[in-house]
Amino acid sequence: MNIAIDGPAGAGKSTVAKLVAKQLGYLYIDTGSMYRALAWAAFAHQVPIDDEKAVYELLMKNRITLQRDGETQRIFWNDQDITDSIRTPQVSQYASVVASYALVRQQMLVLQREMAKGGNVVMDGRDIGTHVLPEADVKIFLTASIRKRAERRLQELLQKGHQTDLASLEAEIAERDKRDMEREVAPLRQAEDAVLIDTSELTIPQVVDEILQICKQLG
Ligand code: C5P
Repeated sequence: MNIAIDGPAGAGKSTVAKLVAKQLGYLYIDTGSMYRALAWAAFAHQVPIDDEKAVYELLMKNRITLQRDGETQRIFWNDQDITDSIRTPQVSQYASVVASYALVRQQMLVLQREMAKGGNVVMDGRDIGTHVLPEADVKIFLTASIRKRAERRLQELLQKGHQTDLASLEAEIAERDKRDMEREVAPLRQAEDAVLIDTSELTIPQVVDEILQICKQLG
């Protein structure tokens, strides 16, 4: 069985997807981290972020690998572990820019399908139910109010020692969602056969339970 979890930034996708994967003994794949890795590399290697061809070539000439590390996942750019460098607000913004490029998405699709081909994966992202795994057995669209999502991001970033505030995070998330929803290729939207879950007033265990119930019914 394959499970696709999509939704806007900060809806709790990765937290929930990791726990669902753990409960089911499935492989968790965070596709956002791949766009983040490319954005990080463009910045690190001074590739102009608005140059689609150059960003695509950077992707094609290098290797992004996801490695399981207990319950979490580490991400490598070639042999360099960049897991701890890709969660900054700046990488988030850059990620949604490189994610708007058709060539980049085409290649990410190839890589992501390859990773999922063994089955029993929980994959989270923006276009998993609509494009990457349109045949997924279970499709979930997670959302929450923008205030809640910004509050969650704030906690996450403060814990990691980043300095930021709620207002700038709300603005950052709104801008990123807009770019993700309005891009021409594989925009963020709920698949017709996805189940919508609004996590604004739910705890993490409640969301995980709801998804496990859905898996039982549909899987
Ligand atoms: O999920 P996360 O916030 O880490 O994703 C970072 C960015 O990567 C998103 O804002 C989006 O632009 C892009 N993304 C995407 N398609 C995916 C996963 C992420 O376009 N499947």
